[in-house]
Amino acid sequence: METGQTKHWDIRLVDLTLGYEQKIVLNKINATIPGGKISVILGGSGGGKSTLLRHLVGLRRPISGKILLDKYDLFALPDKDFKALRRRMGMLFQDGALLGSMNLADNIALPLKEHTNLPDKIIREVVLHTLELVNMADFAEYYPNELSGGMRKRAGLARAMVTSPPILLCDEPTSGLDPITAAQMDALLKTLKKQNPQMTIVVVSHDLESLYAIADHAMVLNQGGIAFNGSKEELQQTEDPFLKRFLDRTNIHADDSKLPRFALKPETGEQIKNALDEWLRQS
Ligand SMILES: Nc1ncnc2c1ncn2[C@@H]1O[C@H](COP(=O)(O)OP(=O)(O)OP(=O)(O)O)[C@@H](O)[C@H]1O
Ligand SMILES: [Mg+2]
Repeated sequence: METGQTKHWDIRLVDLTLGYEQKIVLNKINATIPGGKISVILGGSGGGKSTLLRHLVGLRRPISGKILLDKYDLFALPDKDFKALRRRMGMLFQDGALLGSMNLADNIALPLKEHTNLPDKIIREVVLHTLELVNMADFAEYYPNELSGGMRKRAGLARAMVTSPPILLCDEPTSGLDPITAAQMDALLKTLKKQNPQMTIVVVSHDLESLYAIADHAMVLNQGGIAFNGSKEELQQTEDPFLKRFLDRTNIHADDSKLPRFALKPETGEQIKNALDEWLRQS
């Protein structure tokens, strides 16, 4: 297998069906996520974004179809090559997924310690450099539970990128962050991309701000399929009603044609009101 340090790695989804035991989440999807670009995957909650990432990094096998990374068919490779390919991907999990029993420096050193025989001194140098890139160099000796959510995400990113993977996948890197920290995370991904022009970065996000800030390419999942796959500019110019609604949240209002399934009977409402009034009157 080539080193992959100097070329773009496209990701191709071919007739891909993904899901869990009794449930299909994405059905026969076909798409190319272009190499050497930042792609943002969007879609409603529960639409299958994290599921797709989990399959892309080889943590779960598809029900049917293929995932091609560059020219390699991920799930058709012999075990040794499958493992080698997985090493070429870095993943930032939704919660950072750092090991609580190790400080940051050790967490980030882990992939290098496991997969290389570099001397400790060199590993330490790489770890500190990578922490510096995510603005966390002062926290090398901290444990994950001593950090804020945003810091854990940045540390998770440091661990994902310490091996300079040609493919970097990030699940919700900005969710739960305040707008300034989120913007810093976006800036960080852009800087990382600038420093590694060949890197393929795939970011799952709810965050339209992030889409506009970082994406070259966008993919929108909806109802088990792909509602859009193309450049950010094309997405912004779309005339598709679903996509327009998705991009302009002010257009979304509750569907009042749907009756709630668990509506209260009028007499129940009255009964509750009386009981609560009674409670408030008690001293
Ligand atoms: N481990 C699992 N076992 C069974 N079903 C799962 C599992 N993980 C997710 N699902 C189901 O798969 C569907 C897609 O979930 P997924 O987590 O991929 O959505 P998502 O797009 O990442 O949502 P969010 O934006 O809320 O993170 C959901 O219906 C969910 O219930
Ligand atoms: Mg998710």
